[in-house]
Amino acid sequence: MTGSQLVHLVDHPLVQHKITLMRRKDASTNSFRRLVREVSALMAYEVLRDAAVHEVEVQTPMETTTGTVIDGKKLVFVSVLRAGTGMLDGMLEVVPSARVGHIGLYRDPRTFVAVEYYFKMPGDLDERDLVVLDPMLATGNSAVAAVERLREQQPKSVKFVCLLACPEGIAALREAHPDVPIYTAAIDRELDEHGYILPGLGDVGDRTFGTR
Ligand code: URA
Repeated sequence: MTGSQLVHLVDHPLVQHKITLMRRKDASTNSFRRLVREVSALMAYEVLRDAAVHEVEVQTPMETTTGTVIDGKKLVFVSVLRAGTGMLDGMLEVVPSARVGHIGLYRDPRTFVAVEYYFKMPGDLDERDLVVLDPMLATGNSAVAAVERLREQQPKSVKFVCLLACPEGIAALREAHPDVPIYTAAIDRELDEHGYILPGLGDVGDRTFGTR
């Protein structure tokens, strides 16, 4: 964890190794997409460390015992379109029974303001824990807008997970939603004048889907 208790830096060597491979500008679309999925699955271990579990009885080949299981149906992975999709695949590998929500936001290229074009979530959000997936916490505008929109539905809890953050994005999200924990694999230096993170990963949507 970093100085703030609500910013979790997932600095496991495996995660850092894969983030470094993703930074390479000559990484193929195939390998970039696979790495997004793998890093997200690895980050799920940290993000879900405090996930709610309940006890169940289980019959082993030897005898009956008790174990704990996560109730995946109470968990909602919210993909912020379109770049969140790659992270969603990795998270679902770890918790295949989780529910999925989608928020479509695009960034106005001139003002960087987040504009919503799609919103679809499971019902009964007051009983569900939400994990918002958006790979780049850059200006923070889309993260703030996504969390704000989700909170209108009064979910049980909200966490925000990204691959890379920068100080500007963390400050914006912390200011708007101080109680929402942020999970990131790295905190990069700064934003450039186009709202991209430096040194960063470039445009994660384009790199994931090969639309460069
Ligand atoms: N979105 C991206 O894909 N990359 C950035 O650096 C910032 C926002």
